[in-house]
Amino acid sequence: MIERIVNPEPASEPDIVEEQTLETLRPRSFDTYTGQELLKQNLKLAIEAAKHREEPVDHVLLYGPPGLGKTTMAGVIAAEVGANIRITSGPAIERAGDLASLLTNLGDGDILFIDEIHRLPKTVEEVLYPAMEDFVLDVMLGKGPSAKSIRLDLPKFTIIGATTRAGALGAPLRDRFGHVHRLEFYTPDEMITIIERSAGILDIAIDRDAATEIATRSRLTPRIANRMLKRVRDYATVKQVDGITRKEAREALHLLEVDELGLDSSDRRLLTMIIEHYNGGPVGLTTMAAALAEETSTIEDVYEPFLMQIGMLERTSRGRRATSKAYAHLGLTPPEIKS
Ligand SMILES: Nc1ncnc2c1ncn2[C@@H]1O[C@H](COP(=O)(O)OP(=O)(O)O)[C@@H](O)[C@H]1O
Ligand SMILES: [Mg+2]
Repeated sequence: MIERIVNPEPASEPDIVEEQTLETLRPRSFDTYTGQELLKQNLKLAIEAAKHREEPVDHVLLYGPPGLGKTTMAGVIAAEVGANIRITSGPAIERAGDLASLLTNLGDGDILFIDEIHRLPKTVEEVLYPAMEDFVLDVMLGKGPSAKSIRLDLPKFTIIGATTRAGALGAPLRDRFGHVHRLEFYTPDEMITIIERSAGILDIAIDRDAATEIATRSRLTPRIANRMLKRVRDYATVKQVDGITRKEAREALHLLEVDELGLDSSDRRLLTMIIEHYNGGPVGLTTMAAALAEETSTIEDVYEPFLMQIGMLERTSRGRRATSKAYAHLGLTPPEIKS
Protein backbone atom coordinates (compact mmCIF):
# COMPACT_ATOMS: atom_id res chain seq x y z
CA MET A 1 0.00 0.00 0.00
CA ILE A 2 1.23 3.51 -0.75
CA GLU A 3 2.07 5.68 2.25
CA ARG A 4 -0.62 8.33 2.59
CA ILE A 5 0.30 11.68 4.08
CA VAL A 6 -3.10 11.61 5.78
CA ASN A 7 -2.59 8.16 7.25
CA PRO A 8 -3.29 8.68 10.96
CA GLU A 9 -1.27 5.60 11.85
CA PRO A 10 2.48 5.72 12.53
CA ALA A 11 4.64 5.05 9.48
CA SER A 12 4.78 1.30 8.82
CA GLU A 13 8.52 1.43 8.23
CA PRO A 14 9.58 4.11 10.65
CA ASP A 15 12.14 6.55 9.36
CA ILE A 16 14.39 6.91 12.41
CA VAL A 17 15.16 10.61 11.97
CA GLU A 18 11.52 11.40 11.28
CA GLU A 19 10.36 9.39 14.30
CA GLN A 20 12.86 11.10 16.59
CA THR A 21 11.81 14.59 15.61
CA LEU A 22 8.18 13.61 16.00
CA GLU A 23 9.01 12.13 19.39
CA THR A 24 10.25 15.53 20.61
CA LEU A 25 6.81 16.89 19.76
CA ARG A 26 5.03 14.68 22.26
CA PRO A 27 3.56 16.75 25.11
CA ARG A 28 4.69 15.49 28.53
CA SER A 29 2.23 17.23 30.86
CA PHE A 30 -1.45 18.12 31.06
CA ASP A 31 -0.48 21.75 30.42
CA THR A 32 1.25 21.08 27.11
CA TYR A 33 -1.30 18.45 26.01
CA THR A 34 -3.79 20.53 24.01
CA GLY A 35 -7.53 19.77 24.00
CA GLN A 36 -9.37 16.65 25.24
CA GLU A 37 -10.50 18.88 28.10
CA LEU A 38 -13.06 16.49 29.57
CA LEU A 39 -10.60 13.61 29.51
CA LYS A 40 -7.94 15.73 31.22
CA GLN A 41 -10.42 16.90 33.87
CA ASN A 42 -11.45 13.33 34.64
CA LEU A 43 -7.88 12.08 34.79
CA LYS A 44 -6.70 14.95 37.00
CA LEU A 45 -9.47 14.11 39.44
CA ALA A 46 -8.62 10.42 39.38
CA ILE A 47 -4.93 11.13 39.95
CA GLU A 48 -5.60 13.52 42.80
CA ALA A 49 -7.97 11.09 44.52
CA ALA A 50 -5.50 8.24 44.15
CA LYS A 51 -2.68 10.35 45.58
CA HIS A 52 -4.91 11.27 48.49
CA ARG A 53 -5.63 7.61 49.24
CA GLU A 54 -1.99 6.67 48.56
CA GLU A 55 -3.13 4.09 46.04
CA PRO A 56 -2.28 3.63 42.38
CA VAL A 57 -4.70 5.14 39.87
CA ASP A 58 -7.43 2.73 38.79
CA HIS A 59 -6.86 1.10 35.38
CA VAL A 60 -7.47 3.42 32.41
CA LEU A 61 -8.76 2.47 28.96
CA LEU A 62 -8.27 5.05 26.18
CA TYR A 63 -9.99 4.48 22.88
CA GLY A 64 -10.43 6.38 19.65
CA PRO A 65 -9.04 6.70 16.12
CA PRO A 66 -5.27 6.52 15.59
CA GLY A 67 -3.16 9.66 15.92
CA LEU A 68 -5.33 11.51 18.44
CA GLY A 69 -2.96 11.16 21.40
CA LYS A 70 -3.59 7.89 23.29
CA THR A 71 0.06 6.89 23.65
CA THR A 72 0.96 10.49 24.44
CA MET A 73 -1.68 10.62 27.17
CA ALA A 74 -0.36 7.42 28.75
CA GLY A 75 3.04 9.14 29.06
CA VAL A 76 1.43 12.27 30.47
CA ILE A 77 -0.40 10.26 33.14
CA ALA A 78 2.85 8.55 34.13
CA ALA A 79 4.66 11.90 34.36
CA GLU A 80 1.85 13.52 36.33
CA VAL A 81 1.68 10.60 38.76
CA GLY A 82 5.46 10.37 38.91
CA ALA A 83 5.34 6.66 38.06
CA ASN A 84 7.54 4.41 35.94
CA ILE A 85 5.91 3.33 32.70
CA ARG A 86 6.54 0.08 30.84
CA ILE A 87 5.30 0.00 27.26
CA THR A 88 4.08 -3.09 25.43
CA SER A 89 1.32 -4.04 23.01
CA GLY A 90 -1.36 -6.70 22.63
CA PRO A 91 0.30 -8.58 19.77
CA ALA A 92 3.70 -8.51 21.54
CA ILE A 93 2.38 -10.55 24.47
CA GLU A 94 2.02 -13.94 22.85
CA ARG A 95 1.73 -16.26 25.82
CA ALA A 96 0.43 -16.10 29.39
CA GLY A 97 4.02 -16.49 30.56
CA ASP A 98 5.05 -13.28 28.76
CA LEU A 99 2.44 -11.35 30.68
CA ALA A 100 3.38 -13.05 33.96
CA SER A 101 7.00 -11.97 33.61
CA LEU A 102 5.97 -8.39 32.71
CA LEU A 103 3.70 -8.18 35.76
CA THR A 104 6.11 -9.72 38.25
CA ASN A 105 8.78 -7.25 37.16
CA LEU A 106 6.62 -4.22 37.94
CA GLY A 107 7.14 -2.18 41.10
CA ASP A 108 4.48 -0.72 43.37
CA GLY A 109 2.69 2.15 41.60
CA ASP A 110 4.18 1.37 38.17
CA ILE A 111 2.17 1.78 34.99
CA LEU A 112 1.97 -0.88 32.31
CA PHE A 113 0.84 0.59 28.99
CA ILE A 114 -0.68 -1.99 26.65
CA ASP A 115 -1.20 -0.56 23.16
CA GLU A 116 -3.66 -2.31 20.82
CA ILE A 117 -5.04 -4.12 23.82
CA HIS A 118 -7.87 -5.59 21.69
CA ARG A 119 -5.23 -7.81 20.09
CA LEU A 120 -4.26 -9.63 23.30
CA PRO A 121 -4.62 -13.39 22.87
CA LYS A 122 -7.56 -14.84 24.83
CA THR A 123 -5.31 -17.01 27.02
CA VAL A 124 -3.33 -13.92 28.03
CA GLU A 125 -6.50 -11.94 28.67
CA GLU A 126 -7.65 -14.51 31.20
CA VAL A 127 -4.45 -14.10 33.22
CA LEU A 128 -4.99 -10.36 33.19
CA TYR A 129 -8.43 -10.50 34.87
CA PRO A 130 -7.34 -11.53 38.42
CA ALA A 131 -4.19 -9.42 38.04
CA MET A 132 -6.21 -6.28 37.35
CA GLU A 133 -8.89 -7.03 39.91
CA ASP A 134 -6.99 -8.41 42.90
CA PHE A 135 -3.30 -7.94 41.96
CA VAL A 136 -2.69 -11.68 41.98
CA LEU A 137 -1.31 -14.09 39.47
CA ASP A 138 -2.45 -17.72 39.25
CA VAL A 139 0.40 -19.92 38.12
CA MET A 140 0.12 -23.60 37.19
CA LEU A 141 2.99 -25.73 38.41
CA GLY A 142 3.65 -29.02 36.68
CA LYS A 143 1.52 -30.80 34.11
CA GLY A 144 -1.20 -33.46 34.08
CA PRO A 145 -2.90 -34.85 37.20
CA SER A 146 -0.14 -33.70 39.57
CA ALA A 147 -0.37 -30.09 38.38
CA LYS A 148 -1.38 -27.55 40.97
CA SER A 149 -2.14 -23.90 40.89
CA ILE A 150 -0.48 -21.38 43.18
CA ARG A 151 -1.39 -17.78 43.68
CA LEU A 152 1.28 -15.06 43.68
CA ASP A 153 0.80 -11.55 44.99
CA LEU A 154 1.66 -8.76 42.56
CA PRO A 155 2.62 -5.15 43.26
CA LYS A 156 -0.19 -2.60 43.02
CA PHE A 157 0.09 -1.30 39.47
CA THR A 158 -2.00 0.57 36.93
CA ILE A 159 -2.79 -0.76 33.47
CA ILE A 160 -3.37 1.82 30.75
CA GLY A 161 -4.87 0.15 27.70
CA ALA A 162 -5.25 1.78 24.29
CA THR A 163 -7.41 0.62 21.41
CA THR A 164 -8.86 2.10 18.26
CA ARG A 165 -12.24 0.58 18.96
CA ALA A 166 -13.73 -0.10 22.39
CA GLY A 167 -16.18 -2.43 20.68
CA ALA A 168 -13.34 -4.76 19.71
CA LEU A 169 -12.72 -5.43 23.40
CA GLY A 170 -14.71 -8.12 25.23
CA ALA A 171 -16.97 -6.95 28.03
CA PRO A 172 -15.06 -8.91 30.75
CA LEU A 173 -11.87 -7.01 29.95
CA ARG A 174 -13.55 -3.65 29.39
CA ASP A 175 -15.38 -3.89 32.71
CA ARG A 176 -12.13 -4.23 34.62
CA PHE A 177 -11.09 -0.69 33.73
CA GLY A 178 -12.17 1.92 36.27
CA HIS A 179 -11.81 4.72 33.74
CA VAL A 180 -12.93 4.29 30.15
CA HIS A 181 -12.45 7.36 27.96
CA ARG A 182 -12.87 8.15 24.32
CA LEU A 183 -10.53 10.57 22.57
CA GLU A 184 -12.28 13.03 20.30
CA PHE A 185 -11.18 14.70 17.09
CA TYR A 186 -9.69 18.12 17.89
CA THR A 187 -11.36 21.40 17.03
CA PRO A 188 -9.74 23.50 14.27
CA ASP A 189 -8.60 26.01 16.90
CA GLU A 190 -6.96 23.28 18.97
CA MET A 191 -5.24 22.04 15.80
CA ILE A 192 -3.82 25.52 15.19
CA THR A 193 -2.45 25.57 18.74
CA ILE A 194 -0.86 22.14 18.24
CA ILE A 195 0.66 23.13 14.89
CA GLU A 196 2.07 26.39 16.25
CA ARG A 197 3.53 24.57 19.25
CA SER A 198 5.17 21.97 16.98
CA ALA A 199 6.48 24.70 14.66
CA GLY A 200 8.02 26.40 17.70
CA ILE A 201 9.76 23.21 18.83
CA LEU A 202 11.02 22.41 15.33
CA ASP A 203 12.02 26.05 14.79
CA ILE A 204 9.83 26.49 11.72
CA ALA A 205 8.69 30.03 10.92
CA ILE A 206 5.03 29.77 9.96
CA ASP A 207 2.31 32.40 10.06
CA ARG A 208 -1.23 32.03 11.42
CA ASP A 209 -2.80 31.63 7.96
CA ALA A 210 -0.44 28.81 7.05
CA ALA A 211 -1.11 27.07 10.38
CA THR A 212 -4.85 27.45 9.73
CA GLU A 213 -4.42 25.96 6.27
CA ILE A 214 -2.66 22.90 7.68
CA ALA A 215 -5.22 22.65 10.49
CA THR A 216 -8.15 22.48 8.07
CA ARG A 217 -6.49 19.75 6.04
CA SER A 218 -5.12 17.69 8.92
CA ARG A 219 -8.26 15.63 9.59
CA LEU A 220 -8.31 17.20 13.04
CA THR A 221 -5.58 14.70 13.94
CA PRO A 222 -2.27 15.81 15.54
CA ARG A 223 -0.15 13.02 14.05
CA ILE A 224 -1.21 14.05 10.53
CA ALA A 225 -0.75 17.76 11.27
CA ASN A 226 2.82 17.19 12.49
CA ARG A 227 3.64 15.17 9.41
CA MET A 228 2.14 17.82 7.10
CA LEU A 229 4.04 20.56 8.88
CA LYS A 230 7.30 18.80 8.07
CA ARG A 231 6.38 18.29 4.44
CA VAL A 232 5.42 21.97 4.15
CA ARG A 233 8.76 22.91 5.66
CA ASP A 234 10.57 20.74 3.09
CA TYR A 235 8.66 22.52 0.34
CA ALA A 236 9.55 25.95 1.73
CA THR A 237 13.21 24.94 2.03
CA VAL A 238 13.36 23.84 -1.59
CA LYS A 239 11.56 27.01 -2.71
CA GLN A 240 14.02 29.00 -0.58
CA VAL A 241 11.41 30.95 1.33
CA ASP A 242 12.08 31.78 4.96
CA GLY A 243 8.65 32.21 6.49
CA ILE A 244 5.86 29.80 5.55
CA THR A 245 2.66 31.56 4.49
CA ARG A 246 -0.68 30.20 3.30
CA LYS A 247 0.68 30.10 -0.26
CA GLU A 248 3.46 27.61 0.53
CA ALA A 249 1.16 25.54 2.73
CA ARG A 250 -1.46 25.31 -0.02
CA GLU A 251 1.04 24.48 -2.75
CA ALA A 252 2.82 21.83 -0.70
CA LEU A 253 -0.41 20.12 0.35
CA HIS A 254 -1.77 20.32 -3.17
CA LEU A 255 1.29 18.39 -4.39
CA LEU A 256 0.44 15.73 -1.81
CA GLU A 257 -3.07 15.50 -3.28
CA VAL A 258 -4.71 16.50 -0.04
CA ASP A 259 -7.79 18.60 -0.70
CA GLU A 260 -9.30 21.49 1.28
CA LEU A 261 -11.06 19.12 3.66
CA GLY A 262 -8.07 16.86 4.23
CA LEU A 263 -9.30 14.08 1.93
CA ASP A 264 -6.74 12.37 -0.25
CA SER A 265 -7.17 10.23 -3.34
CA SER A 266 -7.95 7.12 -1.27
CA ASP A 267 -10.83 8.82 0.52
CA ARG A 268 -12.20 10.14 -2.72
CA ARG A 269 -11.87 6.68 -4.25
CA LEU A 270 -13.87 5.21 -1.37
CA LEU A 271 -16.67 7.75 -1.70
CA THR A 272 -16.69 7.56 -5.50
CA MET A 273 -16.90 3.78 -5.32
CA ILE A 274 -19.99 3.90 -3.07
CA ILE A 275 -21.62 6.49 -5.30
CA GLU A 276 -20.81 5.06 -8.70
CA HIS A 277 -21.00 1.33 -8.06
CA TYR A 278 -23.57 1.17 -5.30
CA ASN A 279 -25.73 4.14 -6.13
CA GLY A 280 -24.64 5.92 -2.94
CA GLY A 281 -25.22 2.89 -0.71
CA PRO A 282 -26.03 1.31 1.59
CA VAL A 283 -23.13 -1.03 0.98
CA GLY A 284 -21.71 -3.55 3.45
CA LEU A 285 -18.26 -3.25 4.99
CA THR A 286 -16.91 -6.48 3.53
CA THR A 287 -18.10 -5.54 0.04
CA MET A 288 -16.37 -2.19 0.38
CA ALA A 289 -13.18 -3.82 1.61
CA ALA A 290 -13.15 -6.20 -1.36
CA ALA A 291 -13.84 -3.40 -3.86
CA LEU A 292 -11.02 -1.27 -2.44
CA ALA A 293 -8.62 -4.17 -1.76
CA GLU A 294 -8.26 -3.06 1.86
CA GLU A 295 -8.68 -4.80 5.22
CA THR A 296 -12.07 -4.22 6.84
CA SER A 297 -10.23 -3.05 9.98
CA THR A 298 -8.34 -0.40 7.97
CA ILE A 299 -11.60 0.90 6.58
CA GLU A 300 -13.19 0.97 10.03
CA ASP A 301 -10.24 2.44 11.95
CA VAL A 302 -8.52 4.66 9.41
CA TYR A 303 -10.97 5.83 6.72
CA GLU A 304 -14.37 5.90 8.33
CA PRO A 305 -14.01 7.83 11.61
CA PHE A 306 -13.00 11.06 9.90
CA LEU A 307 -15.39 10.70 6.95
CA MET A 308 -18.21 10.23 9.47
CA GLN A 309 -16.93 13.08 11.64
CA ILE A 310 -17.23 15.53 8.73
CA GLY A 311 -20.57 14.10 7.62
CA MET A 312 -19.53 12.53 4.30
CA LEU A 313 -20.33 8.98 5.29
CA GLU A 314 -23.16 7.47 7.28
CA ARG A 315 -23.38 4.11 8.97
CA THR A 316 -26.82 2.55 8.83
CA SER A 317 -28.03 -0.86 9.90
CA ARG A 318 -27.85 -1.98 6.26
CA GLY A 319 -24.39 -0.62 5.53
CA ARG A 320 -22.52 2.56 4.64
CA ARG A 321 -24.06 5.44 2.70
CA ALA A 322 -22.46 8.44 1.02
CA THR A 323 -24.22 11.61 2.16
CA SER A 324 -25.34 14.53 0.00
CA LYS A 325 -22.31 16.39 1.35
CA ALA A 326 -20.08 13.73 -0.23
CA TYR A 327 -21.84 14.16 -3.59
CA ALA A 328 -21.38 17.92 -3.35
CA HIS A 329 -17.72 17.64 -2.42
CA LEU A 330 -17.02 15.39 -5.41
CA GLY A 331 -19.08 17.59 -7.71
CA LEU A 332 -21.70 14.90 -8.32
CA THR A 333 -25.47 15.10 -8.25
CA PRO A 334 -27.27 12.95 -5.69
CA PRO A 335 -30.07 10.70 -7.00
CA GLU A 336 -33.68 11.79 -6.48
CA ILE A 337 -34.74 10.98 -2.94
CA LYS A 338 -37.27 8.15 -3.01
CA SER A 339 -40.28 8.73 -0.82
N1 LIG B 1 -3.16 16.74 22.60
C1 LIG B 1 -2.04 16.84 21.86
N2 LIG B 1 -1.35 17.98 21.84
C2 LIG B 1 -0.24 18.08 21.08
N3 LIG B 1 0.27 17.08 20.33
C3 LIG B 1 -0.37 15.92 20.33
C4 LIG B 1 -1.55 15.72 21.09
N4 LIG B 1 -1.98 14.47 20.92
C5 LIG B 1 -1.12 13.89 20.07
N5 LIG B 1 -0.15 14.75 19.69
C6 LIG B 1 0.94 14.47 18.74
O1 LIG B 1 0.46 13.53 17.80
C7 LIG B 1 1.33 12.40 17.70
C8 LIG B 1 0.49 11.13 17.75
O2 LIG B 1 -0.02 10.92 19.04
P1 LIG B 1 -0.13 9.45 19.69
O3 LIG B 1 -0.27 9.64 21.15
O4 LIG B 1 1.01 8.62 19.23
O5 LIG B 1 -1.50 8.94 19.05
P2 LIG B 1 -2.25 7.53 19.24
O6 LIG B 1 -1.51 6.75 20.27
O7 LIG B 1 -3.65 7.88 19.63
O8 LIG B 1 -2.22 6.89 17.88
C9 LIG B 1 2.32 12.52 18.85
O9 LIG B 1 3.63 12.37 18.37
C10 LIG B 1 2.15 13.91 19.42
O10 LIG B 1 3.25 14.70 19.08
MG1 LIG C 1 -0.43 5.00 19.93
